[in-house]
Amino acid sequence: MNNRLEIAYVGIAVPEPTALTPFFGEVIGLVPGEPADDGAITWRDDDRAHRVILQAGPENDAVFVGFEAVDARAFDETITRLTAAGFDVTEGNEDECRARRVSRLTRTMAPWGVVVEIVEGLEPASVRFSSALVPGGFLTEGVGFGHVVFATTDFDETNRFLVDGLGLAQSDWLEMEIVEGIRLEVHFFHCNERHHTIAIAKAPFEMPQSLHHVMFETNSRDDVGAAFDRAWASDLAIPNGLGRHDNDGMFSFYVRSPAGFQVEVGYGARLVTDNWDDNRRYDRISAWGHQPLRGA
Ligand SMILES: [Fe+2]
Repeated sequence: MNNRLEIAYVGIAVPEPTALTPFFGEVIGLVPGEPADDGAITWRDDDRAHRVILQAGPENDAVFVGFEAVDARAFDETITRLTAAGFDVTEGNEDECRARRVSRLTRTMAPWGVVVEIVEGLEPASVRFSSALVPGGFLTEGVGFGHVVFATTDFDETNRFLVDGLGLAQSDWLEMEIVEGIRLEVHFFHCNERHHTIAIAKAPFEMPQSLHHVMFETNSRDDVGAAFDRAWASDLAIPNGLGRHDNDGMFSFYVRSPAGFQVEVGYGARLVTDNWDDNRRYDRISAWGHQPLRGA
């Protein structure tokens, strides 16, 4: 398998980044990341400098996603592949590398309208990760900080970007009728053992937000339950209560952030192995659960 990339961080622009502090800090259980010069608020779920970068901006959506190459060769190969597939790349300058706390950065515009940054050498945080709310910590070693899911009307070109450009492989896909006449199609992609690092949903029309959700995977089932309790005790919408996904087998729930996008907190997803031969269609999102619970 091509274990050459890991999701490094997601950048989200919201009008007031500090408005999300209780959400990420007290509901999800992330810890503050390294401070940013431009006033961005950062969060992390492991020992790296930052994993979620909240910038002040009107977009109210993800504005960039970083993919970290595991070494210099993987970095160069990814850039070569993107260029060969016809995607323009721009090398980041020193200031941009410093802001992202990486040693190298090259960016390209993904077809779903979010900048994708290929980076190398994401710095460690100055203090080791420890979250009183998530005592078992999060699963990130060798698989990046979690996963992201976007909706796009440019579905075919996005597929091409992820496979031919970034070099990801499709894990499987979901195709079902949610209600009569409305079909849902989601493709799931991996670049390491995590079942999917990114998934894309085919949007029937331009959505107000392309970012559907960000997922953080805990090392302990109980930490999902405790996060669910904190979400339940808040007044946040819970679009999906506890359940288990059919394709990656993840036990999780979804809570809506005050900025509209959702966060999935999960545990126990299956891994993609070297001889992955399970790239097939699923016709249901969940084996059980994930019912719309509150304000969905
Ligand atoms: Fe997910």
